[in-house]
Amino acid sequence: MTTHISSRLLHGADYNPDQWLASPEILAADMQLIPQAGLNAVTLGIFAWPALEPEEGRYTFAWMDRLMDDLHARGMRVILATPSAGRPAWLTRRYEEVRSVGSDGRRARHGGRLNLCPTSPVWREKVGQINHQLATRYGHHPALALWHVSNELSNECQCGLCLAGFRNWLKKKYGTIEQLNQSWWNAFWGHTYGSFDDLVDLDGSVNGMTLDWKRFQSDLYVDYLQAEMAPLRAANPAIPITTNFVPTCRMPEQRRIAAAIDVVSWDAYPGWHTGDDVACAANNAFFPDLYRTMARGRPLIQMETTPSQVNWGVDSPLKRPGVHRLTALQSVAHGADGFCYFQWRAGRGGNEQFHGAVVDHTNTADTRVFREVTQVSRDFAALDHLVGAPCPAEIGVVLDWDSMWAVESAALVSNRRKDYEQTVVAHYRALWRQSFSLDVIGCEDELARYRLIVAPMLYTLDEARDARLRTWVAAGGTLVLSYLSGVTDMSARAHLGGAPGPLRDVAGLWVEEIDALPVERTPRVAVTPGSTLALSDLGVGRDYAAIVRPTGAEVIATYADEFYAGTPALTRHQFGKGACWFMATRLSDPALSTFYRALSASLALSPVRADLPDGVTASRRGDSVFTMNWTAETKTVPGVGALSGFSSHISSTVSRVGS
Ligand code: GAL
Repeated sequence: MTTHISSRLLHGADYNPDQWLASPEILAADMQLIPQAGLNAVTLGIFAWPALEPEEGRYTFAWMDRLMDDLHARGMRVILATPSAGRPAWLTRRYEEVRSVGSDGRRARHGGRLNLCPTSPVWREKVGQINHQLATRYGHHPALALWHVSNELSNECQCGLCLAGFRNWLKKKYGTIEQLNQSWWNAFWGHTYGSFDDLVDLDGSVNGMTLDWKRFQSDLYVDYLQAEMAPLRAANPAIPITTNFVPTCRMPEQRRIAAAIDVVSWDAYPGWHTGDDVACAANNAFFPDLYRTMARGRPLIQMETTPSQVNWGVDSPLKRPGVHRLTALQSVAHGADGFCYFQWRAGRGGNEQFHGAVVDHTNTADTRVFREVTQVSRDFAALDHLVGAPCPAEIGVVLDWDSMWAVESAALVSNRRKDYEQTVVAHYRALWRQSFSLDVIGCEDELARYRLIVAPMLYTLDEARDARLRTWVAAGGTLVLSYLSGVTDMSARAHLGGAPGPLRDVAGLWVEEIDALPVERTPRVAVTPGSTLALSDLGVGRDYAAIVRPTGAEVIATYADEFYAGTPALTRHQFGKGACWFMATRLSDPALSTFYRALSASLALSPVRADLPDGVTASRRGDSVFTMNWTAETKTVPGVGALSGFSSHISSTVSRVGS
């Protein structure tokens, strides 16, 4: 297993010299400027296929040979990409099948990027050939640190080849068409199939099909990735491989992909200064906590972020001074061993010409952004001892792809704000704001290490999940469920007996009805006097209000409005040595904070620091505690003093390493 890519924290950028081959003076300047910024890595060749193979079978590697050597001479590590996220025009022109087919049945036009068919044998052959060339040429180059396969793999294709693959996958999964009809509840609207060959189109009205299609696509991408990786592994099995994730991208399921690669990496472009910056910071912490958990001890890298601004928001503000540094430190504090940018140098043309870069069109190092990047290099140099250091957590927050797919594809009683992912993040945020260390986990992850598991809207539950969760609760764990937990099985068929399905006895209740709350209807939630958990105000419920029937659960709070006033809005049920909480309605951020503050205290869970002012958080990695001020105002922090807006303080149990 790969534990380190480098003994230093990687600080790097996407480098696209193929855009500048006609400007040798720029390439020469880059060789000075990249080390001047203190970067120690570049990601090379992501969209360089036409520059490497301008005609089918004719390869032009001389420019890359020179660059690999020049970068090595300057002590840089290279993350070398396979170029399959973009493709040469000759390939599209000659081989129609490489272009993906959309849900309207039409093939993608040439252009854009990624619009590939992951099944196409021709595509796989052509990608295999260029990957083989790269692998045999550079697989043992001393600058090569890591392979970077494709870019943000996520394209869905519905061509005949992919649909045939889906039918075969279904045959293997179900064996008989009767079994599939049952699982998908196909008698509804007369969808019953006579044979697997009847499935000629995807049908978004069949929820079970939607889930299986996403699972099939996820398996297909694992297979595709294996095909891309084969020549790389064959040339030098010692070089680790990654592919960069788009956070919480709906397809493929990233936990499956993460299991197939050596290094987990993700890209993040938080929308700073477009709303609540503290909430933005919480989101930005959620991603490494998710991907670090997927990495399971293997290295984690933030592969992309902008050093300044993006160019695809409605408004894409510049990061305020200090925010960039804070973001880089946050990434390391949450487990990253590398932090890289899109992009090193802004191109003069193309769709991203105005996207932020370390070197922009001013073409100079005398800029605020360049200086801030250089500062991050200095910070990282003082933190190299954290490479590989763990971020242990006692609390797991569940983000479940199956539930996300199922909630998003179902026609629910309220479809205005289903917000599966946002709800998971809201619960995470409440705990993160109180400086708890958190893992974002899946239902199949090991649970024993956690004392509290927060699983709002865990919509899909089968026997296996039920068994794991109930065993863990019985042994002493505390589980938080909510409205829309345990509604269906893994085929999106409703559980009989009511939600939370097989966990009814663990929760000590069943859900009789669920009310959909239009924006103006917000039933008050009243805390039951003298209940187990001393809670102050929980505010009002929003969007969904489950009406529950306790069968043993203690009622901690009730609705104070609506015809169901007096029925439970929040319950706790002792189950074995543990307990299961059920939040029947969607609570506000302050109410979630109140709830988790009281719950964590009752469980004697310790945050990294408990004495911080609002908007300041602390994260622990290894022996270091990062205290970070996510607001623009100076805050007084015990033991630190005045912490100015958008700044951080790092302390170590071994020694102070700077601020
Ligand atoms: C990423 C992508 C990069 C670049 C960047 C712009 O999603 O991987 O190639 O397009 O966005 O923000």
